[in-house]
Amino acid sequence: MTTRRILITGAGSGIGAELSRLRAAQGNEVVVTDVDDAAATQVAASITAAGHRAKGLALDVTRPAAAETAVRASGPIDVLVNNAGLQHVARLEEFPADRWAFLVAVMLTGAANMARAVLPGMRARNFGRIINIGSIHSLVASPYKSAYIAAKHGLLGLSKTLALENGDVDITVNTICPVYVRTPLVEKQIEAQAHEHGLTPERVISEIMLKPMPKKAFVTIEEIAALAQYLMTDAARNVTAQAIAIDGGWTAQ
Ligand SMILES: NC(=O)c1ccc[n+]([C@@H]2O[C@H](COP(=O)([O-])OP(=O)(O)OC[C@H]3O[C@@H](n4cnc5c(N)ncnc54)[C@H](O)[C@@H]3O)[C@@H](O)[C@H]2O)c1
Repeated sequence: MTTRRILITGAGSGIGAELSRLRAAQGNEVVVTDVDDAAATQVAASITAAGHRAKGLALDVTRPAAAETAVRASGPIDVLVNNAGLQHVARLEEFPADRWAFLVAVMLTGAANMARAVLPGMRARNFGRIINIGSIHSLVASPYKSAYIAAKHGLLGLSKTLALENGDVDITVNTICPVYVRTPLVEKQIEAQAHEHGLTPERVISEIMLKPMPKKAFVTIEEIAALAQYLMTDAARNVTAQAIAIDGGWTAQ
């Protein structure tokens, strides 16, 4: 199996951290980046302590210059995983405007900043894989999450455009769209919704979160990692500009 150098954003926690561990365990070199410098360093240290290859870097994806600096410091990047993200739940009229803009800056403009930094090198080497971590909310909406959903829908447009712009070389750009994964981001939502609706956390999970999902089970990071692994291969060279859902059947309804 060909090993790659993979840069993952927002990798100090949740999906990015576990994806870093899983991909490093397969022999890949992982550049673990996060706006939370200590978290990125800690995840990278845990990977190297396990005998695998990783480097931790501070990186705020909202800053184009920081994206360029991190890519230069990393060495040639074969695979970029745009994973940094955050949530804010409020109806639009009560959604602070600066918070709304910030969510879009991280999850949409941040992905463009990162792609701009890695694409020249990928094009020069005639190989690249850009894997965006979208969401079921790249495909469907739910109330009170307008910034998140606008950013995640926008990510599909960015992804398709970059796929077309780089169709002449062995670069693919795809978006993985999972439903809920139990990470700190989701644990916070379970707590908030339990409080808001006066329900137990178990009822929030079964009656709200997993209700629209025929499979009735959280997605695991292993499932996302397995799809990312496939997208990294030569065999996936014609899979590009796609939104690939891991949604337990949600969008079939
Ligand atoms: N957890 C889920 O159910 C779920 C489902 C679908 C998609 N996603 C997506 O997966 C991604 C990871 O989410 P998670 O659940 O692991 O969340 P998480 O909160 O555990 O991790 C997100 C990480 O992003 C980092 N981050 C935030 N702003 C940043 C910035 N400006 N620059 C760099 N890093 C920044 C945070 O510091 C944090 O370490 C997000 O894009 C999220 O939208 C999550």
